[in-house]
Amino acid sequence: MSTDRRFDLWGAAAGAALGLGDTALLVGLGVDMQVAGRDASLLVGLVFAFNLALVGGLAGALLRARRRERAAATELAATRQEVFENEKLAAIGRLAAGIAHEVRNPLGVMRASAAMVQEQFAPEADAHRACSFVVDEADRLNGLITALLAFARPSHVEPTEADLEPLVDRALALARPGLDVRRVEVSAELAPLAPSRVRVDPDLISQVLLCLVTNASEADGTRHIQLRGHRDPEGWSIRVADDGPGVAEQDRGHLFEPFFTTKARGTGLGLAMAGQIARAHGGTLRFLEGAGAGPNGRGACFELRLPWQLPRERAAA
Ligand SMILES: Nc1ncnc2c1ncn2[C@@H]1O[C@H](COP(=O)(O)OP(=O)(O)OP(=O)(O)O)[C@@H](O)[C@H]1O
Ligand SMILES: [Mg+2]
Repeated sequence: MSTDRRFDLWGAAAGAALGLGDTALLVGLGVDMQVAGRDASLLVGLVFAFNLALVGGLAGALLRARRRERAAATELAATRQEVFENEKLAAIGRLAAGIAHEVRNPLGVMRASAAMVQEQFAPEADAHRACSFVVDEADRLNGLITALLAFARPSHVEPTEADLEPLVDRALALARPGLDVRRVEVSAELAPLAPSRVRVDPDLISQVLLCLVTNASEADGTRHIQLRGHRDPEGWSIRVADDGPGVAEQDRGHLFEPFFTTKARGTGLGLAMAGQIARAHGGTLRFLEGAGAGPNGRGACFELRLPWQLPRERAAA
């Protein structure tokens, strides 16, 4: 029986109990229930119970309808939000392609020219330094355009059977230079995931993990990052938690928005892109409150959760 239907039954049962209880009370108070000289208290009790059961069942059905209505409204709001996000992403995609086309070539020329001029000066000369600023900034802009383009292109998932451990190792190896510079330690507890063969696009999932570990290490004061795996019949998840400052309350709702960043040199595309990859796998990427790796859950914690089977494959099965 559906949980919803139980409302009707509970309502009816409560009504019937109330009807019988009321009748018993009346009998207890000495009310004389006689029909044609015969005791009719049982009949009255049954009529009361039946009527109140009807009322109770009706109330249950009303409650059920209200719940269904509320659930439909929530679903509709979520779908609208998703459509809005997709439209926003499509607009960013068009913008990114335009910027890439218009800016990349001249930027390349500027960079090459600055590098050529730089060679004319001794390394200690101011002009040499000035040229290296131009080269560095041109590289940074180029990196931003690459990130924009990657973000604008919808994540195309190429699933293969993969082991999770090497996938995590790859992400950690890529994050290693940043971790070492900031003296951040990483511990990984993936045993609960074993046997950890999953169907994913390994490059994309490594990219998500790299984004989470990099963000955790870039947060001021992070000393320790914890990766923890978990599995259940529907899917598997990895939590990346740190003992840094955590995310300010007013920022939590914006974390996955493209271009949201609190860093001077951030693009704000890391989490937006990671979220997109998780969705392309039929999964989710969430910020979990109060689950950081510091004392009393201080710090930030993100959870990547994916189903065992990719949605497209599930549909084809
Ligand atoms: N572990 C974390 N601890 C604290 N804040 C975080 C953490 N992870 C993400 N954030 C916040 O979320 C913002 C968005 O992260 P995102 O990865 O999308 O972009 P970014 O890191 O700012 O830029 P980029 O990824 O290009 O370097 C960050 O600027 C930071 O404010
Ligand atoms: Mg980032």
